[in-house]
Amino acid sequence: MDFIPYGLHWIDEEDINEVAKVLRSSWITTGPKIKEFEDAICAYIGCSYSTAVNSGTSALDIAVQSLDLPAGSEIITTPFTFVATSNAIIYNGHRPVFADICPDTFNIDPEDIRRKITENTKAIIYVDYAGHPCDIRELKKIADEFDLYLIEDACHAIGAEYEQKKVGNFADMTIFSFHPVKHITTGEGGAVVTDNTELYEKLSLLRTHGIDKNTMDRYGPDASWAYDMKYLGRNYRITDFQAALGISQLKKLDGFLDRRTELASKYDQLLGDVDFIRLPIVKNNVKHAYHIYTILLDDTINRDEFFKYMKAASIGVNVHYIPAYRHSYYINNFNIDRHDFPVTEDIFKRIITLPLFPEMGRDKMEYIAETIKEYKK
Ligand SMILES: Cc1ncc(COP(=O)(O)O)c(C=O)c1O
Repeated sequence: MDFIPYGLHWIDEEDINEVAKVLRSSWITTGPKIKEFEDAICAYIGCSYSTAVNSGTSALDIAVQSLDLPAGSEIITTPFTFVATSNAIIYNGHRPVFADICPDTFNIDPEDIRRKITENTKAIIYVDYAGHPCDIRELKKIADEFDLYLIEDACHAIGAEYEQKKVGNFADMTIFSFHPVKHITTGEGGAVVTDNTELYEKLSLLRTHGIDKNTMDRYGPDASWAYDMKYLGRNYRITDFQAALGISQLKKLDGFLDRRTELASKYDQLLGDVDFIRLPIVKNNVKHAYHIYTILLDDTINRDEFFKYMKAASIGVNVHYIPAYRHSYYINNFNIDRHDFPVTEDIFKRIITLPLFPEMGRDKMEYIAETIKEYKK
């Protein structure tokens, strides 16, 4: 069997043609495709505003920056995520405070958030792990009670739904990533969506140096040379050819989601009778977006041995995630005791991600399931 990666983008001729058209035009960046992509994101999510940027990490960074919190504010987040989530807090001079996760969905535990709130807590960044939305109703309750901002890191969860509504319609701001392992791709890319006009206006400036006029408005015979830099923004712009790819990919998103759901239920079916693993749990008030499909090994199995065994069989398993507080930067800069996170620690030691991408066929899934079953024979 050829090596099976854990994730893989799907780009077809239609996507390539859309990108090529932009590459042949005079606007390859800061042009009209950016707004067209942002409008398409809003139409898909059903929200008011979208700011497209060059990565999910940049989107998180400007989302935190746009809140203008006092230096050293505490922002509560999950440790069971890619480090970009908590790094965005640190970039902005704030302190990440981790809360433990729930043992069923591996999403942030609202009860532990309550225990971690202090008078310096100003916001919560929650991650819809693997594509399963968090307990948003409970998180909103906490945010209202303690007057906190909510940022939803939905980098795993574009198209996921909570109580029949798409994610992107709950938090003050929601973040998406368009990295190639995600549901849709622009190569690198991301977006912040919001219904808040003031935040949106700030976000669109922060993405481009904090300057109050975009390039198109400074172009042409009647345009003035003048502009003002209002905030200390960055260059986090996405290009027009990436936006063209994003527009084309977005048209296929529902098909990609259906395919991922179909593959996940195929895994459920093939692995349902394996007694040493636990399959993903899906709550009945959500639509899962299945960015990744993870299984939990029981404590008779050594995860690292199992990982090597699967890799030796050309299966691109992975581990999502090393808890953020275990990375040396966090150990060296923050006084975090991993014993405060018993659930995260337990899940981290037992979890493994199986390959999942739209192009995967039945043969690969059956091979993966058989290989897993053989492990304990
Ligand atoms: C939960 C989460 N947040 C943020 C990011 C960062 O996104 P990007 O790679 O587009 O910068 C990722 C990427 O893997 C992610 O999984």
